[in-house]
Amino acid sequence: MSHLKNHSRRRFLTSSSLGMLSLAGFPGLLSAMGNMHSTRAPEGLPKMAPNKASANFKADVELELYCRSNSVAILPGQSTLIQQYSAKLLKGPENTLTEIPGSYLGPIIRLQKGQKVRIHLINKLAEPTITHWHGLHVPVVMDGPPVYAIDPGERYVYEFEVLNRASMNIYHPHPHENTARQVYNGLAGALIVNDEEEAALGLPSGEFEIPIVIQDRLFDDNNQLVYVRNMHERMMGFYGDRILVNGRSNVKFDVASRAYRLRFMNGSTARIYKLAWEDGTPITVLGVDGGLLESPETKAYVMLAPGERLDVWADFSGRSEGSQIVMRSAAFSGALPKMASRMMGGMMNVNSLPVGSDYPIFTVRVTKKVSDSPKLPGQLSKIYRYSPSDTANPQKPIPIAISEAHMALLLNGRPYAYNDPQDFERIKVNSIQLLEIFHSHGGMGMMGGMGGRHGGMGMMGGMGHRNNNPESGESMGMGGGMGMMMTMAHPIHLHGQSFQIVSRSIINNAADDYATVSEGFIESGFKDTVLVMPGETIRIIKPFQDYKGLFLYHCHNLEHEDMGMMREFLVE
Ligand code: C2O
Ligand code: CU
Ligand code: CU
Repeated sequence: MSHLKNHSRRRFLTSSSLGMLSLAGFPGLLSAMGNMHSTRAPEGLPKMAPNKASANFKADVELELYCRSNSVAILPGQSTLIQQYSAKLLKGPENTLTEIPGSYLGPIIRLQKGQKVRIHLINKLAEPTITHWHGLHVPVVMDGPPVYAIDPGERYVYEFEVLNRASMNIYHPHPHENTARQVYNGLAGALIVNDEEEAALGLPSGEFEIPIVIQDRLFDDNNQLVYVRNMHERMMGFYGDRILVNGRSNVKFDVASRAYRLRFMNGSTARIYKLAWEDGTPITVLGVDGGLLESPETKAYVMLAPGERLDVWADFSGRSEGSQIVMRSAAFSGALPKMASRMMGGMMNVNSLPVGSDYPIFTVRVTKKVSDSPKLPGQLSKIYRYSPSDTANPQKPIPIAISEAHMALLLNGRPYAYNDPQDFERIKVNSIQLLEIFHSHGGMGMMGGMGGRHGGMGMMGGMGHRNNNPESGESMGMGGGMGMMMTMAHPIHLHGQSFQIVSRSIINNAADDYATVSEGFIESGFKDTVLVMPGETIRIIKPFQDYKGLFLYHCHNLEHEDMGMMREFLVE
């Protein structure tokens, strides 16, 4: 299929190349032509011409990023076929790229705020791909949405200035309907931004700053990756039965008795973790998706959904040589429909590591006693807290309605379609907007209501309370029918600038389950992905500055994303 597509595209280019020549002196026209160079792919998604390097962009950092197939040793015995990023630094500071030895993960890309970066993405896979810089505030053509996917052998050039504050971001593929599988096969990496505010804090760095990318995988008897085998595994998200950290199984970190900075990323396609130190030591949180908090926060546990990041201060200085501490995912409930959890745990018997069960993630071993350790700063950053009065729409939040009815997972009532904005998905550039993410249980009728009210939020709230009926027992008591069966947690991610969480509210029926996770959310920092539990409504405030165009928002349960639980905001 992609062969045919290429073929017709090439023919189109040849027949229009004469016209191209005569337009060459008019950049505006040329870029308009760039858009015309799309042929409708069979799935209805246009294919854009790959972006090229521009002569007047003076890069401080330049690198080539390859996607290719490879094999690595993950488990003892036979090595595993994977897909993998690798990179070559062409220009810039030597510490820009750090390999994680023996891992299928891409190298850590370290950038400085203010740097101008050019990245040549080179597709050596046998299928289309494109790379997205999850968390970075960049123009649409540099953001890697599915329409910019390149074919095997093609090259896509990204050029952007790093506007983000210090933060850990993710680079991962974003091709149409194939994001989850490519990430699952190994295509992912960390992109760390540093800035002066962070540097002034003197946080643990170098060997004392440890990336912790958590993923789950399922292997067959020959150590090969197993992926989605049926509709159920797609609907619920795909879950492996083995936890990998930085691409390895049974990970142990050897540390000295001092403070460390642990940079967590949930790189799983669907699995949600409830991070907790086994011995009850609280987790000291320095930052989240969009960088440092104002001051450290201490939590008994922290929820980490796919796409989310967490910056943790871990001080081992009181610990004796030879001691160990385990980071676990602690027990919680409510993330999956009850029926589905039963199927996964019992009847279908496919997963020995159910979501929400209690299991180890990695072990830390204190192997060296040292006397000196940095001190935890009391203040980390200055953050301006948005309030609804800063927004263009304090009374009329932009809806992000999650619908789970009739075996379809949708946002705002429609599956993903390129350039298909509904009125309320059009946003003025350089505005700050209030958004409300909520579960819609009424199918089309409800969506109609939503359009009318420009978010029938009042309606949703009312509905939740009407259904607040204790006799519903284990059925969560929401909506009824398929809606009820399917209600589950969704990590909702918005491309572009990070946002702040204004409020969370939960309907009472879900409260028992909710109590198992509710202390694990961090609301004070900048986020780009937020876990929305069943029955939960979350208000966020997000700036839409600098760049016009179609910016994705979607569920970061990547199986859901690929099923079409994705939409675009047209920033204009
Ligand atoms: Cu992490 Cu649109 O993705
Ligand atoms: Cu993203
Ligand atoms: Cu989802």
